[in-house]
Amino acid sequence: MTTIHFKTLESTNLYIKKNYEQLSDFQVVSTSHQTEGKGRFGNCWIDDHESALFSILIKRELKLNVLTQIPLIAATACHKVLSQYVSNLSIKWPNDLLVYDKKIAGILTESILFKQSVRALIVGIGINVSDLVFKNVLKGLATSILIESNTKISISKLIEDISSEFQKEFLLFEKKKSNSILYCKNHSYLLGKEISFIQNGIESYGIAIDINDLGHLVVKTKDGILELNSGLIKLNHIK
Ligand code: BTN
Repeated sequence: MTTIHFKTLESTNLYIKKNYEQLSDFQVVSTSHQTEGKGRFGNCWIDDHESALFSILIKRELKLNVLTQIPLIAATACHKVLSQYVSNLSIKWPNDLLVYDKKIAGILTESILFKQSVRALIVGIGINVSDLVFKNVLKGLATSILIESNTKISISKLIEDISSEFQKEFLLFEKKKSNSILYCKNHSYLLGKEISFIQNGIESYGIAIDINDLGHLVVKTKDGILELNSGLIKLNHIK
């Protein structure tokens, strides 16, 4: 896989969105710093030049119903590579990687749609690599590879390793031979826990009991079983 690297970009996801027609399948775009890094739900992804910031383009026609599985494929690839450096790493469905309760990596998958199908996918990944302190909104909520392992690793090698692992997982997924859902279940942060989630603007509660074959989170609530296909999930500490 080839990587185009920029010193600074607005956002690697945005760069691919603007230029995908000229880029090839599995092109990786990375940067040392983003001025407009994007997170899920319109949040920003703040970096202090110590993170792995990259996006992978998948340029092919895909059915809309595969979209919920892509973050799990990316989370699997990240987990496999990051566990070489960090222990106690789990996957918080659908796309965060945590060490205990602290976030070490996040994934933002975006799609370029044409009529009823996906023309291209952008898988953006941000990993805290050599940060030593997290201030303001991140205080107490984030961690890095350096903090967890006391090792300063090469950001470019990390990007290369995760991108190749992602490509491998994605090609298996296309051949219907992917184990990434099972992998995410085995390393899940949420399964078995009491959670809260927002659905149609209303906060509901339940116990996360499974991740189904479509990559949806299965939740047992007082009104029955629900399948969530995306969403902001919080642990429910109120019993
Ligand atoms: C999240 O945790 O909400 C997802 C964060 C995704 C951040 C990465 S950094 C590289 C890529 N470019 C972006 O603008 N966002 C993603």
